[in-house]
Amino acid sequence: MNDDLRDDDPQIFNAIISEAARQGDVLEMIASENFVSRAVMEAMGSVMTNKYAEGLPGRRYYGGCEHVDIAEDLARERAKKLFVAEHANVQPHSGAQANMAAYFAFLDGGEKILGMDLSHGGHLTHGSPVNFSGRLFEVVAYGVGKEDGLIDYDLVWDKARLERPKMIIAGASAYPRMIDFEQFAQIAREVDARLLVDMAHIAGLVATGHHPSPIPYADVTTTTTHKTLRGPRGGLILCAEENAKSIDKSVFPFMQGGPLMHVIAAKAVAFLEALQPEFTLYSGQVISNAKALGERLGNHGFHLVSGGTDNHLILLDLRPSHEDLTGKEAEAVLEEAGITVNKNTVPQESRSPFVTSGLRIGTAALTSRGMSELEMTQIADWIYEVLSSPTDESKIQRVRGAVSELCSSFPLYPELSGAT
Ligand SMILES: Cc1ncc(COP(=O)(O)O)c(C=O)c1O
Repeated sequence: MNDDLRDDDPQIFNAIISEAARQGDVLEMIASENFVSRAVMEAMGSVMTNKYAEGLPGRRYYGGCEHVDIAEDLARERAKKLFVAEHANVQPHSGAQANMAAYFAFLDGGEKILGMDLSHGGHLTHGSPVNFSGRLFEVVAYGVGKEDGLIDYDLVWDKARLERPKMIIAGASAYPRMIDFEQFAQIAREVDARLLVDMAHIAGLVATGHHPSPIPYADVTTTTTHKTLRGPRGGLILCAEENAKSIDKSVFPFMQGGPLMHVIAAKAVAFLEALQPEFTLYSGQVISNAKALGERLGNHGFHLVSGGTDNHLILLDLRPSHEDLTGKEAEAVLEEAGITVNKNTVPQESRSPFVTSGLRIGTAALTSRGMSELEMTQIADWIYEVLSSPTDESKIQRVRGAVSELCSSFPLYPELSGAT
């Protein structure tokens, strides 16, 4: 071994270089993705990956933790400052694990939870039968209104009163509008349920004041760190001091073993970045870009679920404009044209989750590349062109060429992809 990835493992080296080139040469519009800074990547690729540090700073089960303690303390302090929270646990390996820890801090298996239906925009971990949440808890669901695509708060009230869940979950993976956390808290209080807010998608917008914060209302707030928050892939839990011990114990030793200290160091770096004024400007631009994209797509006749967006994503229901085009086909043909999005179920979905009738499109990643409303309008035109003639190979290739040209004007990690 030469300790050089290129020589030691050329297959993996080439896969990484090719992935960097791919990311740079396509329009990445998957709403849950973003591009981290080189500083975040440097922390993630550091010697902290070698360290076992079960426990918490100052109270570890292993020696030699004085430096990783600094990283975790900084991550915790910065997370608390960023979200104005009393307590932070930065150890969950992912958003799903943050949710698992949050559930078991307050619930026993078999108890009842009320979450948003997956096909209406909720997440697997909010009670889907194929996920631990659906296997370990009794699940009831709320969703969005048939006509307006907005969370049906009357239904949440009714279901909560009827079902008396032990926990209500607010938060979503594919919901383009603001969520009324205060009302969710009123509902939870009335039926004596705990409120878990999963702000994974909108955490960056919450951090910068572009979406109302759930922290004053929720018993526990969970998030991923890698979506609009633009940090490393991972999870984070925030709560009041009175719940700190239950949350910490539920992360370790209940749910996880050793924390990923290199990722925690990278979370600290990302939180520091998010505390800077530039990040607030970035978040505002993410929303302006989503609005510009949505407006132009609407002008082209696409149906936006809920009629528009307040955040970083739009959800297209293809049925009214392109009756025969499935989400799966639309995703594939856009990918061929260099525009990466994901198929998504839509409210009152008529197709299977593997096929779907919708597309979810986000602007967080392209905004990190520096793109603004002008580019979003152009991209909306390309999406319209491609989806209107999904079998016209020459049109798809023409758009592919134009996408590459646009991408080259907004370089991404040029030193990592072999590009100059
Ligand atoms: C709302 C929400 N919660 C949790 C998760 C799970 O995060 P992870 O993939 O890190 O487990 C996601 C992922 O997309 C999400 O959208």
